[in-house]
Amino acid sequence: MITVVTLNPAVDKTYRVSALRPGRIHRVDQVDAFPGGKGINVAKVLKRLGLAVQVTGFIGGGTGDAILQGLDQLGLSHRMVPIPGETRTCLNILDETGRTQTEFLEPGPSVPKEKWEALKGTVGRLAEESRVVVFSGSLPPGLDDDAYRELVFIAQARRSKAVVDTGGAPLARALLARPFAVKPNGAEMASLFRREEMSDSERIALLREWNRREIPFACVTLGERGALASVDGRAHRVFPPEIEAVNPVGSGDAFTAGLAAGIHREEEIEDILALATAAAASNALHLQAGEVDEDQVTALKEKVRVTLLSR
Ligand SMILES: Nc1ncnc2c1ncn2[C@@H]1O[C@H](COP(=O)(O)OP(=O)(O)OP(=O)(O)O)[C@@H](O)[C@H]1O
Ligand SMILES: [Mg+2]
Repeated sequence: MITVVTLNPAVDKTYRVSALRPGRIHRVDQVDAFPGGKGINVAKVLKRLGLAVQVTGFIGGGTGDAILQGLDQLGLSHRMVPIPGETRTCLNILDETGRTQTEFLEPGPSVPKEKWEALKGTVGRLAEESRVVVFSGSLPPGLDDDAYRELVFIAQARRSKAVVDTGGAPLARALLARPFAVKPNGAEMASLFRREEMSDSERIALLREWNRREIPFACVTLGERGALASVDGRAHRVFPPEIEAVNPVGSGDAFTAGLAAGIHREEEIEDILALATAAAASNALHLQAGEVDEDQVTALKEKVRVTLLSR
């Protein structure tokens, strides 16, 4: 079993309009609404890859109910903790003429202290029956930067392996709990040092440093350039297959799902990285974030190249 913790889920709503003009009335041609947010994308990909998965996090109000219904329709089991307020909606407006995407991201409801205690209890119980627990996405209002650090500690005290995909202060704090695996993207890694960019050699040095700090499986994803990973001090470069990407949003989430799947199955390092990269590429070949095709992932995996870097 793999547990996915998604503290600030969202209903992802897409409006298609012929042209977006500020200050005008728009008739929306088509409305789509799906459960979204990073963690739910990870859970969807894990399910597609054939793994048993359960989801926890906070939900509230009518949009929270919509998330529960959506999870049921996707066949994802869930133990969500209800909180006051309304789960957020993230609105993406597709302008068909200008071919632009305009996004509005709500902050989400604030988490009361007693609900945070309830969630910690739930994560502890789910971790008992999980080999891997994934922590993915930003933190909701009301939680401090130590939230993932506490949850990683709780999960790993139950002998499960934590996989963390986040950035900024919550990532910096989570590292202190020595998660089994971490996967920021390039910008999230650089943000730890308040920088915009880092060179590959700086990235590799940092991944190796994380291994020394007892984080055995450290990676950073670099979009179409692939990924760098250091596992127990051995650094690898991962080259993705060449594809015509349709929509790479959510490819990082698919990569995280592939990591979690490979770690769960105790595969070899090269296989785990190839699976993660193939899942990410399959996601990029689909319009909707968190969509992959298992046969396509199997085929793409053959085209991923993983090389060991010398010291
Ligand atoms: N154009 C592309 N072609 C092939 N693979 C891609 C492409 N874009 C992304 N990927 C794959 O997706 C992985 C993750 O991408 P990226 O580093 O952009 O993640 P991210 O920023 O965390 O994304 P998100 O948070 O939106 O899911 C990369 O390591 C790569 O394997
Ligand atoms: Mg990401």
